[in-house]
Amino acid sequence: MKTIIVCRSVSHGNTRKVADVIGEVLGARVVDPAEISAAELAEYDFVGFGSGVRNMTFYRELRQFVQSLPGNQRRKAFVFNTSGFPEPPFRPYRRMFTHLVEKKGFEVVDTFSCFGYDTWLPLMIVGGVRKGRPNTVDLEAARTFAEKLRTRISTAS
Ligand SMILES: Cc1cc2nc3c(=O)[nH]c(=O)nc-3n(C[C@H](O)[C@H](O)[C@H](O)COP(=O)(O)O)c2cc1C
Repeated sequence: MKTIIVCRSVSHGNTRKVADVIGEVLGARVVDPAEISAAELAEYDFVGFGSGVRNMTFYRELRQFVQSLPGNQRRKAFVFNTSGFPEPPFRPYRRMFTHLVEKKGFEVVDTFSCFGYDTWLPLMIVGGVRKGRPNTVDLEAARTFAEKLRTRISTAS
C-alpha cells in the first residue's frame, strides 16, 4: 500500500521524530504540507497526518492543507500529534482535526499522541517542560502504533 505522511513540525522537530519512526515501519515518505500538492497526494492509498500543537490546535499549515483537498478522498488515513500537555476535554483538538480529515472523505483508522519538549514562552521561566520528549519509550510506542496500522492495513486490503 502506497503510504505518505504529511507532517508539520516546527518547534523542535518533536513530531517529525515520531513521523520518521512511523514512516520507517510503513515504508512511507514524510513531507511538510508545503512539499506536496493535492494532485500528488491523490497517488497514495494511505495517508498519515501529523502535527505539533499550538494554542490548542494543530498547526495552521496542516489544517489549511487538509481544507484545500477535494472532498472526495476515499482512502484510509491516520492522525498523530505531539504536545506539551494532555489534550484538555474542553478543547479536543485531535478529534477536531480528525473530523476535518473525515469531512474530506478519509476513513481515519487510528490516532496516536505523545508528549514533546515544550518551550511555550511562559514555560521558559522553568526551562520548558517535557525535556527529552519524545523519548525512546515514546518512539517505541509510535513504532508499535505503526506496526498495528501495518497489520490492519494489510489485512484490510
Ligand atoms: C507558541 C507555542 C504554543 C504551544 N501551545 C501548546 C498548547 O496549546 N497545548 C500543548 O499541549 N502544547 C503546546 N505547545 C507545545 C508543543 O505542542 C510541543 O512542543 C510540540 O511537541 C511541538 O511539536 P514540533 O516540535 O513538532 O513542532 C506549544 C508550544 C509553543 C512554542
